[in-house]
Amino acid sequence: MELITSTVTGTAFVVAEYRAEEKYALRPLYRDRIVEIFLSEDSRQAAARIASGSPLVKEMVKLRTRYFDDMLDEQIEGGCRQVVILGAGLDTRGVRKAAAGVTYFEIDDAGTLALKQACLADHGIRSGVRYIPGNYVTDGMMPLLLRNGFDPELATYVIWEGNTMYLDEASDRAILTQLREGIAHFRISFDYFPTSVVTRTTGLDAMTRMADDFARMRAPWITGFDDVHAFAGSLDLGVLDDVTTGELAGVYRPLSAPSAFGPFYSICTLGSR
Ligand SMILES: C[S@@+](CC[C@H](N)C(=O)[O-])C[C@H]1O[C@@H](n2cnc3c(N)ncnc32)[C@H](O)[C@@H]1O
Repeated sequence: MELITSTVTGTAFVVAEYRAEEKYALRPLYRDRIVEIFLSEDSRQAAARIASGSPLVKEMVKLRTRYFDDMLDEQIEGGCRQVVILGAGLDTRGVRKAAAGVTYFEIDDAGTLALKQACLADHGIRSGVRYIPGNYVTDGMMPLLLRNGFDPELATYVIWEGNTMYLDEASDRAILTQLREGIAHFRISFDYFPTSVVTRTTGLDAMTRMADDFARMRAPWITGFDDVHAFAGSLDLGVLDDVTTGELAGVYRPLSAPSAFGPFYSICTLGSR
C-alpha cells in the first residue's frame, strides 16, 4: 500500500499501530477501541520496522495520546464548541469523544481521510466529523475550515499531534498566526522536540537512531523548539501548559523506570492571551 511507505502520510499508520497496542497493557492509559479497524499487514510491517531500531517510539505515542485525550476532555468541559484536528491521520477522538454541541473538523490528505471514512462505514461506526481533505499549509488552514462550516466566533480547541516536527518553522509559525488572527478564542496543543533531536546532538544514541529511522521513511524531523515560552511570546500567544513526556510518564506510569526520551520530547498547550 503506497500510503505506508510514502513520506509523512505513512507515519499516521505507524502511529496508529503503536496507539492500538495499549489495549494489552495491564493498566491502559486510554481506551481506543476504534483505531485497530484502520490497521493492516502493511501498517504492521511498517511499524515493526521502525520499532525494531527505535522501540522507545511506542511509549512516546502512548503518552502523548493520553495527554491529548485528557486535554480534550478538559477543553470540552470548559465549554469549547469546536475541535480542529490538524494532520488528523487516524485520530479517533471525533468518534470516541463525540459530545453534544461540539463539532469536530479533521484536515489531512484525501487518501488518508477517504480510507478512514471507508473503514468507519464498513464497521457501521457513525461519525459526525467534518472531514476536510487538503494541505493545511499550502491550501490555507482558515479557508479550508471556513469553507466547511467552521465558526471563528466559537471557542475552539486545536489538536496538532505529531505534526510540528515535519513542517519548517515558518509554516509552524504561520499556522499559529492564522489561529490567533482568525479565531476569537482558542487553545492549541502540540508535541515537539528540542532542536538537539533534529540536529542529532542529544548525545543519546536512541534519539539519534529514531530521527534517522523517520528520515529513512522519508518523514524527516526538521523543526524543534528550545524555548516554547519565547516562541509563543513572539507570536503573542500564552503558554497554558508545557510538560516533558518524562514528567508525564512520572504521573501516568509512576511505577515504571524513567524513560531515556523523557527530556527530549514535550507537549505544550498555547492559547490567545
Ligand atoms: C505523524 S502523523 C500524526 C497523525 C495523528 N495526528 C496522530 O497523532 O495519530 C502526521 C499526519 O499529519 C498529516 N499532515 C502533515 N502535514 C500536513 C499538512 N500540511 N496538511 C494536511 N495533513 C498533514 C499527515 O498526512 C499525517 O497523517
